[in-house]
Amino acid sequence: MSVVHLRRARTSLVLDARGPGLPRVVHWGGDTGDLDDHGLRQLADATVPPVVPSSFDVPTVLSLLPEASAGWSGRPALAGHRDRADWSTSFQLDRLDVDDPADPGAPARVGVHASDPEAGLSLTIELTLDPTGLVLLRHRLRNDGASPYELRELTPVLPVPAVATELLDLTGRWCRERSPQRHPWPMGTWVREGRHGRTGHDATLLLVAGTAGFGFGTGEVWAVHTAWSGDHVTFAERSPTGTATLGGGELLAPGEVVLGPGDSYATPLLYAVWSDAGLDGLSDTLHTHLRARPQHPRAPRPVTLNVWEAVYFDHDLARLRALADQAAEVGVERFVLDDGWFRGRRADTAGLGDWYVDEGVWPDGLHPLIDHVTKLGLQFGLWVEPEMVNPDSDLFRAHPEWVLAAPGRLPLSWRNQQVLDLAQPGAYAYLLDRLDALLTEHPGISYLKWDHNRDLTEAGHQGRPGVHAQTEAVYRLLDELRRRHRNVEIESCSSGGARVDLEILARTDRVWASDCNDALERLAIQRWTGLLLPPELIGSHIGPERSHTTNRVHDLGFRATTALFGHHGIEWDIASISPVQRRELAAWVALHKRLRPLLHTGRTVRVDHPDPAVWAHGVVAHDGSQAVYAVSRLATSVAQVPGAVRLPGLDQRRRYTVRPAQGVPAPATVQRAEPGWLPDGVTLTGAALGNVGLQLPALHPEQALLLEVTAAG
Ligand code: DGJ
Repeated sequence: MSVVHLRRARTSLVLDARGPGLPRVVHWGGDTGDLDDHGLRQLADATVPPVVPSSFDVPTVLSLLPEASAGWSGRPALAGHRDRADWSTSFQLDRLDVDDPADPGAPARVGVHASDPEAGLSLTIELTLDPTGLVLLRHRLRNDGASPYELRELTPVLPVPAVATELLDLTGRWCRERSPQRHPWPMGTWVREGRHGRTGHDATLLLVAGTAGFGFGTGEVWAVHTAWSGDHVTFAERSPTGTATLGGGELLAPGEVVLGPGDSYATPLLYAVWSDAGLDGLSDTLHTHLRARPQHPRAPRPVTLNVWEAVYFDHDLARLRALADQAAEVGVERFVLDDGWFRGRRADTAGLGDWYVDEGVWPDGLHPLIDHVTKLGLQFGLWVEPEMVNPDSDLFRAHPEWVLAAPGRLPLSWRNQQVLDLAQPGAYAYLLDRLDALLTEHPGISYLKWDHNRDLTEAGHQGRPGVHAQTEAVYRLLDELRRRHRNVEIESCSSGGARVDLEILARTDRVWASDCNDALERLAIQRWTGLLLPPELIGSHIGPERSHTTNRVHDLGFRATTALFGHHGIEWDIASISPVQRRELAAWVALHKRLRPLLHTGRTVRVDHPDPAVWAHGVVAHDGSQAVYAVSRLATSVAQVPGAVRLPGLDQRRRYTVRPAQGVPAPATVQRAEPGWLPDGVTLTGAALGNVGLQLPALHPEQALLLEVTAAG
């Protein structure tokens, strides 16, 4: 056994695996340069903390699974017992597998195999350093004993150095997902728990620790993401003993996971990422990793029209056909029929579970609409909410026992619905059969918007806590459907953005970020969702002029500029707007299509502007040949001239021409007299644009200016 050094993409991970206990993380962060075995041993020895007064008589170090037996007094990484015994462990290292190919484009992997025969447990730790520098960590625990072992918690953690003194994470609610919260990192534990049975509107996509004042483009930052769509925890812990850790795993209810002899439990994957280039650096690594996945959607993301905010439950074939005609005219490429097409679903009070086309509303089935849409050259998508059931449905009347519930009572009602217990074979088979049949009977359906509109509350499976089994069953259902219908893309929607995590995204093709299509709110929701996800995975639609969820009114330019930076779409009754508006909309759609190859492959950058009412973000091509930036004015400011806006991320030495986006109307400004450079554009080096920036017109509040940047020559 030795000290192991993994290096990829300027990230180093050093593990002291000399035993006899579990490997210690000597370092996770910036590259340490070449170190030979001797150098690695020296580094490992030189980073062992001193023995201090009133403490253990030997130095205590942090392993990949910190244990009380090694002096850990922080949050337990493993908690469990066997009829009140075997509640503490001392794992000994049995074997270490290191697979570290010389090719920097291949991942480096470490497998740690350890056991505690006394406790009757064995542990496998799978650690991968991805070519992008991303760390993926998973623990597996096996019960080697002869009696059941109740697992309460198993959580991977990684250490963060003392220079990280501030924390940033995200919270939120329906229509206000991903609100950042930031504060100094105090002693103690900052815990973000979600007990919603789904990822949750308030889930922090990343928990970030960083050096003082870190921003989008500056500072050294460490972050973790807990990839799990059920109950989960993500935390940061700092103690006077000098340790600081980030961790995350599943939240288990009492009795939820009891391992029989020979049974195993695997934690969700913990994604961990380091950068010395601020939050944009974290996003860059995560986006690059996600884009390299084999299943990452590579075909151009079709501009979508979703009918929800256009017609709601008012399904009428003639009206929907007319909407599809208008959609085709403005350049839409995918038409999605939302909630309301199945039996009994005339409002959100009934029908969920009865996944048969409603014969009353659709006497000839969905075929006439699907045929119409596909003949127009558009893809057809359909909304489903498979895990849910309304008590007012044939399914519930036939199978009240298929609902997740505590014995003797139904969970509190939420949007008039309950959750089906997919760990029950009958319920699972029914759903698989119905969804499979729908897709088989309608080969024109190439997209499912998969919704999930309530929390899981008192989610009991045959008297026991059921969220863990439910989450796994949903993954199984999605995997099986995808296996059977490989051409069907799936969107993860959950009352807007309540199911956004990397495990649901392993089996879906985009997320619906929020039910709020108000561009002002969306700017923030998309900015922070984009911390984890690249734009092509984030559904972002142009809503109606007056937002249905906030009542704010925005002109098309502001709405379209905001919706441009994502998987673009429209959610608006465009059959009821004027031909002039439709022409303007078509120009925006055309602009998105022209910029889409850049938007959906480039590097996302965000600007730290000193004026909090001035926001700018952009996408820069990896080869530095072009970029697009949006500068938005959120509100008025005291300063009439807020100062130049820097355009980060460009190649320092190349020269670029910056122009307002062509072919779409300019935003409303305070006065028409614009900075002299604006009408014809300006040509400057990437260094000048990044370090000096440009003065921009005085925008009215809730207006945005789109800038196209092209390398000269
Ligand atoms: C919630 C989703 O987030 C909306 O987009 C819409 O699909 C409704 N459900 C339909 O009930």
